[in-house]
Amino acid sequence: MKAVMYERYGGPDVLEVRDIPVPQPGPGEMLVRVRSSMVAYGDYRMRSLNLEGIPAVERFLARLALGFRHPKRRILGMGIAGDVVRRGAGVTGFIEGDSVVAGLWHRMRFGGYAEYVCAAADGPVEVKPLNLGYDESLAAIGGIAALSLVRRAAVRAGEHVVVYGASGAVGTTAVQLAKHAGAVVTAVCSGPNGAMVRALGADRVVDYTKEDFTDSGERYDAVLDAVGKLTAAKSTRALKPNGRSLSVLTNGHASSGRPEMSYLLSLAQHGALTPVIDRTYPLERAAEAHRYVESGRKRGNVLLHCDR
Ligand SMILES: NC(=O)c1ccc[n+]([C@@H]2O[C@H](COP(=O)([O-])OP(=O)(O)OC[C@H]3O[C@@H](n4cnc5c(N)ncnc54)[C@H](OP(=O)(O)O)[C@@H]3O)[C@@H](O)[C@H]2O)c1
Repeated sequence: MKAVMYERYGGPDVLEVRDIPVPQPGPGEMLVRVRSSMVAYGDYRMRSLNLEGIPAVERFLARLALGFRHPKRRILGMGIAGDVVRRGAGVTGFIEGDSVVAGLWHRMRFGGYAEYVCAAADGPVEVKPLNLGYDESLAAIGGIAALSLVRRAAVRAGEHVVVYGASGAVGTTAVQLAKHAGAVVTAVCSGPNGAMVRALGADRVVDYTKEDFTDSGERYDAVLDAVGKLTAAKSTRALKPNGRSLSVLTNGHASSGRPEMSYLLSLAQHGALTPVIDRTYPLERAAEAHRYVESGRKRGNVLLHCDR
């Protein structure tokens, strides 16, 4: 099978397309034919070992997990949508032919940039909704950290909430989840992305290239930093007394298991969450996809097509 691999940390060109054997599913695993694979901002961070903004202790643990000198996992890819082609011993709940969405961040296995991958059946795996394509289903979970932010901030109906960095994978999901909770949402993004976030439900849009949202005097019940670029001082300044401030870099990993994935997929299935897809690339052009994601300008999700 074709897989995109990297042997050392570095720029996008460390990613190489190789022919390697199809993996065999071990006990509790399913072999999945990958149709669509997510290129997350976190993939760029892992490929280049950019751990900026992550608290020092977590940074050390991340290096330990990723590999100090060389990447331990040679194939990136944190999430896929595809079809189950074989089951390892002891797998129940899925059968061959099921179309599934799988989070490969579970136990940091990764491996989604390939034509086939083995996914742990007890991890974050869910059957793909019939009315959504592979790309849409995968993009529905691309900003899964937003769910932790909105839930941990305990956003309630009628509250005023800021989503900072509203146009990325986490931001577009956070805007929609905060609206779903009944909040009045102010989305902060650059001018060209304003129309998109408004269409996703934002009540007000602030262009951060022209205006600092903390200068208006308005105070919020919650500030959700969906891109990890807001200083603590600014967040605090924008909050009402007892307001809550959360950042995806410190609060985004809380829980991203099967229940969270199922919830997002069910919202998307019923039209209550619009998955945002910016660009798709063939697997062979993974380096180009990385170059774009690394720019920090993607809108929603970037995906690789692994079957065409
Ligand atoms: N996806 C997840 O569930 C998840 C899980 C854990 C951690 N994280 C982390 O969360 C962070 C965000 O991830 P993501 O995938 O949502 O990022 P992303 O999609 O790459 O974010 C890109 C967006 O951020 C906006 N942006 C860039 N700089 C900005 C700034 N200074 N102020 C406001 N907006 C800005 C850009 O819009 P403009 O072009 O308009 O500036 C662009 O639309 C990353 O550090 C990622 O590693 C994500």
